[in-house]
Amino acid sequence: MAREPGSKLRVAAVGDLHCREDQHGRFRLFVRQVNAAADVLLLCGDLTDRGLAEEVRTLVEELSELRIPCAAVLGNHDLENGQEKLLCAELARVGVHCLSGDHYVFEKVLGVAGIKGFGGGYGNATLQAFGETQTKAFVQESVSESLKLEAALGQLETTKKVVIMHYAPVRATTEGENPEVRPFLGTSRLASPVDRYGADAIFHGHSHHGTLRGATDKGVPVYNVAMPLLKRHDPERRFVVVEI
Ligand SMILES: [Fe+2]
Ligand SMILES: [Fe+2]
Repeated sequence: MAREPGSKLRVAAVGDLHCREDQHGRFRLFVRQVNAAADVLLLCGDLTDRGLAEEVRTLVEELSELRIPCAAVLGNHDLENGQEKLLCAELARVGVHCLSGDHYVFEKVLGVAGIKGFGGGYGNATLQAFGETQTKAFVQESVSESLKLEAALGQLETTKKVVIMHYAPVRATTEGENPEVRPFLGTSRLASPVDRYGADAIFHGHSHHGTLRGATDKGVPVYNVAMPLLKRHDPERRFVVVEI
């Protein structure tokens, strides 16, 4: 059935599932709740704990019960064993679209742009590419991720647009974390393309001890959907649903 033009979509989002091999059944209730509560599910990285094939297979088994479309990005934990291609191939078996600088369009109305992101700090304390080669390489990773997001957003022509990433694009949603680790949890370089192209919302994870809501400089709402954080706020519901 075609969706009414202008009608709202229920977008569910969560990150940091950190699925381990032996956790069969851990996400059964979550999947059932998401099926009932949302039109589309967005997964914001750290889907597995160590990026292992056995872990993603356990997760895929759980997600096989999903009855709504799903797009995902990987997180730093998913990259731990260098098996990101295998992880995405396994997720694709149950219809999960893995994004890394590309996009997914849901029912021709909602465009989802996705990147992993990276760290580097915020505002005038953002790490600059100066000095050591290693510092430049670190900064380059966040610049590359930002450029990938810009490319993905540039291709989106849908009326509704959301962005998913693993790292935090604004300082506000890392509030509550140890101040010394905050520059490693994300960077405002990731928010710049969103403010340039516009979006209805950004969803991210990675900051398990951060804050639920923030906004970019231009006012795009930012949701920290790290599952451990959501769980502390409401043990019964481990995802957010935003109407867009
Ligand atoms: Fe995590
Ligand atoms: Fe992470």
